[in-house]
Amino acid sequence: MELSLDISRSAMLQYLQDKNWMEPYEEVLRLEKPGEGNMNVVVRVVGDTRNLILKQSRAFVNKYPQIPAPIERIGVERQFYTLAASLPELRKYLPWVVGFDAKSHLMVLEDLGKGADYTFIYKKEQPMAAEDLSAAVEFLKVLHAQKFDSETVRAFPDNLALRKLNHEHLFVYPYMEDNGFDLDTIQPGLQALAMTYKTDSALKQKVLALGEVYLSAGSTLLHGDYYPGSWLRVNARFKVIDPEFCFFGPAEYDLGVMLAHLRMAQQPEADIEKVVEQYGGEINSGFVGQIEGMEILRRIIGLAQLPLELTLEEKEALLKLAAKKITSNA
Ligand SMILES: Nc1ncnc2c1ncn2[C@@H]1O[C@H](COP(=O)(O)OP(=O)(O)OP(=O)(O)O)[C@@H](O)[C@H]1O
Ligand SMILES: [Mg+2]
Repeated sequence: MELSLDISRSAMLQYLQDKNWMEPYEEVLRLEKPGEGNMNVVVRVVGDTRNLILKQSRAFVNKYPQIPAPIERIGVERQFYTLAASLPELRKYLPWVVGFDAKSHLMVLEDLGKGADYTFIYKKEQPMAAEDLSAAVEFLKVLHAQKFDSETVRAFPDNLALRKLNHEHLFVYPYMEDNGFDLDTIQPGLQALAMTYKTDSALKQKVLALGEVYLSAGSTLLHGDYYPGSWLRVNARFKVIDPEFCFFGPAEYDLGVMLAHLRMAQQPEADIEKVVEQYGGEINSGFVGQIEGMEILRRIIGLAQLPLELTLEEKEALLKLAAKKITSNA
């Protein structure tokens, strides 16, 4: 089935009942767009007794059909949910997988409810509530602490096709002097600012080495895209979604990405320190800093822009810090 908001309610009901994901007595009231997303097609089925979220991958990025993307990614996401749901402490943060249709590249999820993602923290003076931040760290800590047997790790998809696509946007594209993306359309002066980093060969060399690590295998299950767009606040609870970039890799990756976003969202320094402290564990903090730096750079001078409310000077300070974090570590 090809998922869209245009599909008739009766066709949707028929499909869901054929799959036994809705009962014969249930009704579909309407189809909604649950929130913003770029990669996939996501539809909320509002029923008379409950809602479902349907997520379908295509062989391209939904918002940019000219960019090919591995259609199997929805299956990888499903495997993450299945594995993570086997860990009782993580279940409360994640939606249930109601069903999976491999042929249609479609996953059905529990609707966590109407809420907002946490991208509001990029707005001025929007600190993340202490308990939510603590929940965000707790999720990561528990996820990363899991020791899976070697057979589970081996059998888990390497997600390499999607990682390679991501690799381009994280480690290569932002540093191309002429990639066709005029950063001045984002903010006048940003292009000239970016040139400092696009022409810094020592920095670029370090970034490429980091990219190699990103593409290599590890033994910790990572969410892979642990930033405010993957966090939902529903019914005053913290939830995690969208693990399509998951892979077995270095724990430092998820933590570094998270810290980068807290910094770009100008969260209080004390809160950022608390995150590192609460996470604890045996991590390579230099490596965390490098990932943090990489994520700051690629979000400010790369294609996947965020709704940041920062002046050019604030961005410059962040870029400087990011480059330092990358180059000052071996
Ligand atoms: N289980 C769920 N319960 C409630 N809302 C959900 C659920 N899953 C997704 N949503 C909503 O749908 C939006 C898009 O979902 P998701 O982020 O998984 O899609 P995506 O296409 O992978 O997005 P992106 O391009 O940002 O990676 C989310 O931001 C959220 O608002
Ligand atoms: Mg996604």
